[in-house]
Amino acid sequence: MDGVVTGGERQDLAGKHIVLGLSGGIACYKAADLTRELVKAGATVQVVMTEAAEHFITATTLQALSNRKVYTSQWDAREPNSMAHINLTREADAVLVAPASADFMARLATGRADELLSLLCLARPIERCPLLLAPAMNREMWAHPATQRNLAQLRADRTTILGPAAGDQACGEIGDGRMLEADELLADMVAFFQPKALLGRRVLITAGPTFEPIDPVRGITNLSSGKMGFAIARAAQEAGAQVTLVAGPVHLPTPRGVRRIDVRTAQQMHDAVLPAAAQHDVFVATAAVADWRPATLSEQKIKKNGNKVAPAFELTENPDILAAVARLPKRPFCVGFAAESHDLLKHAREKLERKNVPLIIGNLGPATFGRDDNALLLVDARGQRELPTADKLTLARQLVAEIASRLSSHTA
Ligand code: C5P
Repeated sequence: MDGVVTGGERQDLAGKHIVLGLSGGIACYKAADLTRELVKAGATVQVVMTEAAEHFITATTLQALSNRKVYTSQWDAREPNSMAHINLTREADAVLVAPASADFMARLATGRADELLSLLCLARPIERCPLLLAPAMNREMWAHPATQRNLAQLRADRTTILGPAAGDQACGEIGDGRMLEADELLADMVAFFQPKALLGRRVLITAGPTFEPIDPVRGITNLSSGKMGFAIARAAQEAGAQVTLVAGPVHLPTPRGVRRIDVRTAQQMHDAVLPAAAQHDVFVATAAVADWRPATLSEQKIKKNGNKVAPAFELTENPDILAAVARLPKRPFCVGFAAESHDLLKHAREKLERKNVPLIIGNLGPATFGRDDNALLLVDARGQRELPTADKLTLARQLVAEIASRLSSHTA
């Protein structure tokens, strides 16, 4: 997860009805957690199991976790019209099959429909009820040409494939074919339903503080946690962008699908960003970059000298990364941040001109550093707009929508 606020707290799937299908495989044990995560995120979950899945986990467990009766047979007598395969998908926003076994994928690829789960996948209204699969199988089964052929066919039939991951397998082998974990599947489901406002765009983001070493054990840094920048990276990725995140020293997990480059100093951040910037459509400078660094780095730890005279440091100015990107001949759409303690609007407007960027986001430094909530003030040439207090991912999604709408009218 993003480490900011979980989907559950934000109810990212509120109002969504999901048919969760289980086919046979040891990864069925993860479906219990997945059901919980989906329900916590606000979804209603209707579980449907194949006969093989029932060998790995009981319907009772999934019924208790989803708070709904589980369907296991197309001959289920509970449906008045005897058409469970039709009824189950008519209200569904998506069908997610997790785990999807090699056999189940083969069945779907050929349009088989001789048990309830494959039958309902075939009978679903394809235009408004998308199908997502989380494959789970031994690496040889996954790599087999037959499975890869079925996979290509399923993709051609507009099926979304989540994962699989590589790693240790229940059989003792190591390789591709592990089902994604429940929290990863939840993040992918949440992302699936987000508007694709940045589809095909490339977004470069800086986040976190920088650390400017004084000696081998000390340095100058600040209280930025990186949470806002990481939330923007996640929101941009959810919106369909290819995201590169250049992160200072922070303790945050990388959002799913985001390419991360770790750096420590402002100079390293500059050197990672500048060559990459022109290949991106958007640059969001969220990082709290140290303005100054010690002019010289002491090779050894600076010791107390006994005469109570404090050591003196000479400081030298760090490169301004945002201003440097904004000066590029082929510059991306640049978004800067202004963390202030007062006079937000005045400082943000001043920064808009000084850095020559089309959009500055003002926020109050003491009220945001390290916190999960924030409030933003968007300032551009046309005026200003407030995004009131919310968790950082919610704000990041709103900001991504604002950037996307400006991007369509932007010329570099
Ligand atoms: O220069 P100042 O700190 O007032 O502006 C903040 C904005 O500029 C932020 O977007 C920050 O990421 C960016 N910045 C930068 N490189 C610096 C200093 C700030 O990219 N050396």
